[in-house]
Formats: sequence, structure tokens, C-alpha cells
Amino acid sequence: MSSPERGSPTVREPVRFLVFSASLRAESLNTRLARLAVRLIEDHGGAVDGAAMAEFDCPSYNQDAPTLGGIAPGALELRRRLEASDAFVIASPEYNSSMPGLLKNAIDWTSRIRPQPFNGRHALLLSASPAMVGGNRGLWALRMPLEHLGARVYPDMFSLALAHQAFAPDGRIPNGELGARLEQTIVDFMDLVEAAKHYPCAKKAWIEFLGEHPNPAIDRVE
Ligand SMILES: Cc1cc2nc3c(=O)[nH]c(=O)nc-3n(C[C@H](O)[C@H](O)[C@H](O)COP(=O)(O)O)c2cc1C
Repeated sequence: MSSPERGSPTVREPVRFLVFSASLRAESLNTRLARLAVRLIEDHGGAVDGAAMAEFDCPSYNQDAPTLGGIAPGALELRRRLEASDAFVIASPEYNSSMPGLLKNAIDWTSRIRPQPFNGRHALLLSASPAMVGGNRGLWALRMPLEHLGARVYPDMFSLALAHQAFAPDGRIPNGELGARLEQTIVDFMDLVEAAKHYPCAKKAWIEFLGEHPNPAIDRVE
């Protein structure tokens, strides 16, 4: 577990990540970001199932539809891929300060399957946008249904601003600070997923940390 020196291979217990972009667009910036996330996860010793949103696309949800025709194939596929992974990473565009409708629609369909497959799974949220906020508001909207469904959505998120100018031809982010921030966010997330799966004691310690003891000496400073 944990970040190695640059250039040395990471030794990990097996962890598998489903990674997909929530854009159908051929030249999607979020698909480029998802591809970079795949490379970074593999560089740091994780196994990846790279998916395309087209595989999970569903017709508009109609509450009558499941009784008429069963669950949409896109939702069944998303369930299958979630269940085959320890955690998932979504790179999502921001549409009108929220998530794209097709992503919410796929989540709604998949949430009707039992056992409900988002429950208890770790999630990391990424976004890319040509705008200055990098699509970050959309991720706050996406966090809500996922947390509602019991996904353990990682507190840190990564949003790539001015994304149309941010990638080098090899798909990396040449801005050193930004590229390092993305890599560190991914490695920290991988460490948590590995700990939750393989070291239940470490997982417990992480949860206990959230319940910090009160400390009058720093209360006012913070
Ligand atoms: C319907 C629609 C609404 C959008 N709303 C926003 C927005 O609220 N914030 C933003 O940063 N970009 C917005 N955009 C621009 C997208 O961020 C941009 O098209 C981006 O490249 C889409 O992601 P993709 O390249 O992965 O397909 C919007 C685009 C569309 C089509």
C-alpha cells in the first residue's frame, strides 16, 4: 500500500476499479480525463475495467417500465461491472451546474436493482470542463444520489478547469502542480480502497479519525 518513490513499482493487494466517463461525445474532455485516471491507477498497481458511457446508456426511466419490460440492459451492465469491481471512478461533465441527465438516468435505473449495487462501494469523482470551475458544481450534484444510495464517495474530488487546453498530446497534464494533484488524489483513494478491502483494521481507524475528540486548545483557531 501507499505511494512509492517515483519510478518504483507499487506493491498492492489486488484492487479493481471500474472507470468511465459520463460523456457520449467523441472528443470528450471527460473521456480524456478518465483515460488518464486509468493510466495512473495502473501505474500505481491497480487493475482497471475501463468502460464507456454508451454501455450504460438507458432509455428515459419510466416507473411503469420495469414491470412491463424489465430493467434496461444498460443498467444491468452497470450493475455487472460495479459488482466485478471494488470501487468506481466517474469523470463527469457539468451540464447547467449539475450532472448530465443521462448519468442520473442510468443511476436511477440501476438503483432499482436488488441488491442495490452502489451500496457500500467506494467512489471517486472527477470532472473536466473548458470553464474556470472545471465542472466541480456538477460533482456536488452527483455526490448526492450516490451518497443517498450508500456509495462511499471519497471526500476529495478533482476538477480540471480550462480542460480544452490542459492535456498534452500524450494524454498527460503537463502542468506539474495540477498533474501531481490528480495523481495524489488517485493514489490516496486507492490506498483507502485497498485498506477497506484487505485491512479492515485500518478501515476502522480511518472511521474513528472522523470522530475526533474535542480539543478546546484548537477549537477557536480552527
Ligand atoms: C447542455 C450543456 C450544459 C452545459 N453546462 C455547463 C455548465 O454548467 N458548466 C460548465 O462548466 N460547462 C457546461 N457545459 C459545457 C461542457 O462543460 C463542455 O461541453 C464539456 O466539454 C462537456 O464535457 P465532454 O467534453 O466530456 O463531453 C455545458 C454543455 C452542455 C451541452
